Amino acid sequence: MVKIAILGSGKGSNCRAILQAVREGRLAATPVAVISDVKNAPILEIAREFGVPHTCLSPGDFRTRLDPGAEAELVRILREANTEFVVLAGFMRILKKAILNAFPRRIINIHPSLLPKFPGLRAWEQALAAREKITGVTVHYVDELIDHGDIIAQREVPVLETDTPDSLHKRIQQAEHALYPEALRQVFAQYASAA
Ligand code: GRF
Repeated sequence: MVKIAILGSGKGSNCRAILQAVREGRLAATPVAVISDVKNAPILEIAREFGVPHTCLSPGDFRTRLDPGAEAELVRILREANTEFVVLAGFMRILKKAILNAFPRRIINIHPSLLPKFPGLRAWEQALAAREKITGVTVHYVDELIDHGDIIAQREVPVLETDTPDSLHKRIQQAEHALYPEALRQVFAQYASAA
C-alpha cells in the first residue's frame, strides 16, 4: 500500500475526505503522517480522530515558505515515516528545492480553480470577480511555481447568478472532497502497477 503524508495549515476538510476514503476502502493508501506548520490547526485534530501520527513543524522566520532548516526537518520526518507521496491539503507555504528534489513527481496539491486560471489565494473570489459561469477544482503535481505543475484531474463547478463568495466556496469544496481521493486513487494505481 502506498504510504502517504498529508500536509496542511488549516481546517483539514480535504484531509478528512482522504482519510475517510482510506477508511472506507475507496483509496488504497496508508496514511503515515499528518504534518502542519500551524500549532493547533484543526487538521491535526482530524489526524488524531483517525488515529494517524501527526506533528506540528515549526516553520521558522519566513511567512510564505519554510526556512531551510525547517524544510530539511520536514524531509527528515517524511523519510523517517517512509513516505512515498506527499499530499498537500491546504498547506500555505511554498515548497522549495530540498523537498521537491527529495520527492520528484511525488508531491500533489489541490487548488480551488480550473488551473491555469486563478492561481493564488481565494481563487473562488477571483472567479466571481471575473464573472465566470464555470469554475472548478484542479489536482496537480507540485513544482517550484505556485499552483503550477502537470494537471492530474479537474472537475467543473457551476457559478450561479446568486452566488456569494461563501456559497461558491462551499460548492467548490464539495467538489474537492469528491475529486481528491479519486484522483489520488488513479495516481497510486499507476504507481503500483509501474513498481
Ligand atoms: C482547499 O480549498 C484547497 O483547494 C486549497 O486549500 C484549501 C484547504 O481546505 N489548496 P481544507 O483545509 O482542506 O478544508
